Amino acid sequence: MESQLALELVRITEEAALESARWTGRGDKHSADEAATAAIRHHFDSVSMDGVVVIGEGEMDEAPMLYIGERVGNRKGPKMDIAVDPLEGTETVANGLNNALSVIAAAPQGSLLHAPDIYMHKLAMGPALAGKLSLDDPIELTLSKASKHLGKSLSELTVSILDRERHSEMIAALRKSGVRIKLLSHGDVMGSIETCTNSEVDLYVGSGGAPEGVLAAAALKCLGGEIQGRLIPETTTDFSRCQRMGLTDPHQLLRMHDMVGHEGVLFVATGVTPGDFLRGVKYLPGHRAETHSVMMYSGTRTIRYIRSVHYLEELSETLPAAASS
Ligand code: FBP
Repeated sequence: MESQLALELVRITEEAALESARWTGRGDKHSADEAATAAIRHHFDSVSMDGVVVIGEGEMDEAPMLYIGERVGNRKGPKMDIAVDPLEGTETVANGLNNALSVIAAAPQGSLLHAPDIYMHKLAMGPALAGKLSLDDPIELTLSKASKHLGKSLSELTVSILDRERHSEMIAALRKSGVRIKLLSHGDVMGSIETCTNSEVDLYVGSGGAPEGVLAAAALKCLGGEIQGRLIPETTTDFSRCQRMGLTDPHQLLRMHDMVGHEGVLFVATGVTPGDFLRGVKYLPGHRAETHSVMMYSGTRTIRYIRSVHYLEELSETLPAAASS
């Protein structure tokens, strides 16, 4: 059942990637996101499940499609919570940068955290460090624990973090400690996943979107890693949004089981722009395109990589007239 559902879901992230990749480098993140969202919505109702979006494009009054609470699927399959980010890395695509993805996680109903669209402090790590670190520790202690458990000196550890003004103190502390730092322009779902993929990255730290935190938790559960989070409600409205979503204490430390409360979670993703983990969409001669996706299931810790070749509809495009000499 899981493999069938995962295949149906990956077919949708492939469609989203194929549509949004056309916007690569065109400086228009909204169109890239709209293209991915429309593709996912268009295909969702053919999927054999009775799903509810718990993480999507926003609340009902702010998103026309894939809003929180929207029912998706053909209603003939299992009842599922759905977390979807049609395009993780809208600016990444707009600027033609690496590591944009289309992502869906699915788990039995009631098991994914309903995270509001606010920031979350995060600490993500691979299997060798899972269960050994705490988001509550000062960063210096976290680094020395990681160095000890991995058998690496500090100058051999690599920590990734979003390159943001709000992280200036954290980046200064990382630099002072002597670790190697990977500054990410965007995309902390991939930033978290990279701690589990034999990349050079040992830890992901810093704050990013809370919805992306839950998506990363789904992926890391399949990969044997760990992410811890703490929401950052900045206003009373944020605070009551957290409470409406069932978080009685919005400041509580969120562990894996708080974000993904079931052993059987599916995570699928398709690369939109190139990355080390997943290649991006490649358009081929003859109206074809190649996509690279991953399909994971935490119940069996199975990770499958899928390379697909798609025949595309021929688009009628008008080329700009050649300048007259
Ligand atoms: P979008 O796909 O919505 O553009 O998000 C990209 C992203 O980099 C996320 O991966 C990350 O969690 C969040 O934005 C960080 O937000 P900010 O750019 O405000 O620091």
